[in-house]
Amino acid sequence: MIIRKEGGLKLIPDNIIEEIKAKNDIADVISAYVTLKRSGSHMQGLCPFHSEKTPSFTVFTGTQSFYCFGCAAAGDVVTFVRRIENLDYPEALRFLAARCGVKIPEDNENGNYGIRKSRILELNREAARFFRTLLLSSDEAKAYLIKRGLRRETVNRFGLGYSGKRGYEVADHLKKLGYTEEEMHGAMLLGKSDRGMFPYFRNRVMFPIIDTAGQVIGFGGRVMDNSNPKYLNTPETPAFNKGRNLFALNFARTECQKELILCEGYMDVISMHAAGFRNAVATLGTSLTQEQARLMKRYTEKVVIAYDNDGAGRAAADRASRLLGDAGLEVRILRIKDAKDPDEYIKTFGQDAFRRLLSESETKFDFMLRNVLTKYDINTDSGKIRAASELCEQIGGIYSAVERELYTEKTAAALGLSKESLESEIKKQVRKRNTAESGNFEKRLRNKALGIGDRINPEHAANPRAAAAEEALLGIMMLHPERLSQTLGSDPPLKDEDFITTFNRRVFTALKKLYSEGTTDVGALGAEFSCEEMSRIYEMQLKREGLDSASDEVFYDNITALRSLHAEEEKDIEKLISAKLAGQSAKKEKE
Ligand code: UTP
Ligand code: MN
Repeated sequence: MIIRKEGGLKLIPDNIIEEIKAKNDIADVISAYVTLKRSGSHMQGLCPFHSEKTPSFTVFTGTQSFYCFGCAAAGDVVTFVRRIENLDYPEALRFLAARCGVKIPEDNENGNYGIRKSRILELNREAARFFRTLLLSSDEAKAYLIKRGLRRETVNRFGLGYSGKRGYEVADHLKKLGYTEEEMHGAMLLGKSDRGMFPYFRNRVMFPIIDTAGQVIGFGGRVMDNSNPKYLNTPETPAFNKGRNLFALNFARTECQKELILCEGYMDVISMHAAGFRNAVATLGTSLTQEQARLMKRYTEKVVIAYDNDGAGRAAADRASRLLGDAGLEVRILRIKDAKDPDEYIKTFGQDAFRRLLSESETKFDFMLRNVLTKYDINTDSGKIRAASELCEQIGGIYSAVERELYTEKTAAALGLSKESLESEIKKQVRKRNTAESGNFEKRLRNKALGIGDRINPEHAANPRAAAAEEALLGIMMLHPERLSQTLGSDPPLKDEDFITTFNRRVFTALKKLYSEGTTDVGALGAEFSCEEMSRIYEMQLKREGLDSASDEVFYDNITALRSLHAEEEKDIEKLISAKLAGQSAKKEKE
């Protein structure tokens, strides 16, 4: 099959798609995002698509599919990548192809997002390479890096470079390689103003930002003096999303079984790696996002925050610790003393001192306790009350009763209050949280049962029995493609019109078309359906698995059920029409 997109042909041939899927084992791919544990014939982990505390996300290695019993996300390896990386179908295939080294024959269509992104990545790689050669020939840039204490091997490992004095050097070089200025603007190596294109990075030391697939997605550039802005970062491009990536995660991802260290700056990370702490990462010139927190959760269970030792750094650490905690990570906060940031600390006191600091890192609670104690004057009654109420609220938000107990004791001791007086306040907070949560949960269940808010199949609510029969039939036909030809040959054949809900009818039509083209791979429907829709389609299939769905009886029962519901619906309509007509004639008679 050939994947078509609006505006023309996209050449990802069938056999290539099959090769991509065959070479990307679903458990392998998902393991990069979710910690999976084997449980019998399948694997389980915490669902990356909704927040949960007990695993309901299940990967079936036999059928190479996944299903979440909590949020009903479902699909194959391509659907998974589409959802987690937020890609469309061809992009997800390209992503997986790159992962396993399958080459997709390039088409020469332009203006396509996927193509532009891969073009930008190529261009960035060339630029990074060229920045390195510029560094080697610039005494000034080399001297700056040496002054910052970097060794040659560190410079090489991170691929550091230099943008050139004028900044035009890289554009001239890329032009020679056949890239256009428009493309360089796409990568934001060139900015655009009324007066034309201008180089984005001028006379800066360059830090390439590399994603976990090893692709150069953007750059950070630092001035070599005190001018402003100190750092410039590549703005958003089709290849670069600051909120979804972390500096040095490409290295740290294999070194973080125990923990990840999160810092503020590029230089902190580089110093740490050079000192042997290869599990350090940094945000990219913005504050931590929820997506980055979830990204870290895919690789580790614990994060040590090592932000700068200043007011802004402490406030940011407080915020980050909440985000990381919400993502289900264990959080520690490093207390840097007598240095402004980890980079300076390591340079001043050495790596052993830093290791000690790491081992002394505080829990989120200790950090918060210390912050609250400096915020209020606890020698006054009002200060003590406010500090107590803030701490109780925090403790009430903690799930583990053991932890709550421990922190209550600490708070009582710190404030000179009795444990009992704090406990009643904390209980209030816990109750508040529990009712809020159970309310949400019940509401979700109810809505689900009623089919309310079903965005994929909005007609589900009005036709629950029909939708159930349709879903059973579609599920069976996906598991047993021969069933489809059976219905077409049966008397009378199952027709599109037999399906009552529009979404399920669309699936039936697409399935027929797919099978008539000689493919039985349901994943190929991804060219036509969104990834949420694909999840629903896989859900239908997975729901039938393990049931005695192959029997003729179940199959034909569902066809009969659907048809009779259809007949009923028509009767309803007839009734409605005749009632209307009767009403009208009654009106007329009166006149
Ligand atoms: P810092 O000002 O702490 O820089 O900003 P640093 O990492 O310690 O750098 P050096 O040691 O002076 O070289 C921390 C991070 O904030 C972002 C960068 O990502 C930087 O690494 N930042 C800072 C910017 O994006 N732009 C700026 O102008 C400053
Ligand atoms: Mn700093």
